[in-house]
Amino acid sequence: MGDHHQFGSGETEEAVLHRLRLLERVYDPVTTRHLETLGVARGWNCLEVGAGAGSIATWLSAKAGPEGKIVATDINTRFLHQIVNPNIEIRQHDILADPLEENQYDLVHCRTLLMWLRDPGKALRKMADAVRPGGWLMLDEIDYGSILSVESSNPSAAAFSDTWRMGIEFLRKNRIVDPYFGRRVRNLIDQLGFIEGKNEGWTRICRGGEPMAQFDLAAVQMAAQPMINAGLIGPEKLEMMQGLLMDMTFDYPGLTMFSAWGRKPGER
Ligand SMILES: C[S@@+](CC[C@H](N)C(=O)[O-])C[C@H]1O[C@@H](n2cnc3c(N)ncnc32)[C@H](O)[C@@H]1O
Repeated sequence: MGDHHQFGSGETEEAVLHRLRLLERVYDPVTTRHLETLGVARGWNCLEVGAGAGSIATWLSAKAGPEGKIVATDINTRFLHQIVNPNIEIRQHDILADPLEENQYDLVHCRTLLMWLRDPGKALRKMADAVRPGGWLMLDEIDYGSILSVESSNPSAAAFSDTWRMGIEFLRKNRIVDPYFGRRVRNLIDQLGFIEGKNEGWTRICRGGEPMAQFDLAAVQMAAQPMINAGLIGPEKLEMMQGLLMDMTFDYPGLTMFSAWGRKPGER
């Protein structure tokens, strides 16, 4: 993902889309609930950065109506071209390298983007610059901390947590993703000097086989091959994880999606 590493580059297009659709299915209700509280309304001009398969851009488009406009960017727009809403502009765009309008948007939003970038600060500054005075910036980023705290009386708890911990460390050390990025979002908004900041984290107790567990399974499958290549896990451990994530008797706390938002000082 991104222009910085080849991680996941062996995945089929189908596998990537499957993962994005699960992400949307589980987390769209959380993201849209927060967007509702910001008051997204008709006529808004919104920027969705790293739009993925486009569900949030589509939701924003319905809210903004024909008087509004949504720019949906991604470094790879392959899953966005099926969107034909007249008020959505699909833009192939690297947030780290390509120019962006300044002081333009009523809302700039991204989800699970910054955690993948080598220079999240640079992306964030550009996103903040794109917000018009009085407009909103909202970040949704994942934090894997909570997934490590499985209820200890569960006989599979130790093996599950140890394997996640190993996977998370592998991703972090190899700078593939920052698995603990979510906990930073509040400070990032504050440090920009944005006002009226609020934040919230969302998780739940997942059960094997549920969409949230299927999303985790897709993440495990994405990380598995590089970890096998590095000699960190064998096929048995991968099978154990896959089994638990599909086991309808296995409960575990899910990852946390942290959201934070704030308003750029200036006119409303
Ligand atoms: C984990 S996906 C999340 C997709 C979407 N935001 C969502 O939550 O449904 C991250 C997205 O960011 C895009 N991306 C990665 N690096 C990017 C960059 N430098 N500029 C713009 N988009 C990027 C990826 O192509 C991918 O679609």
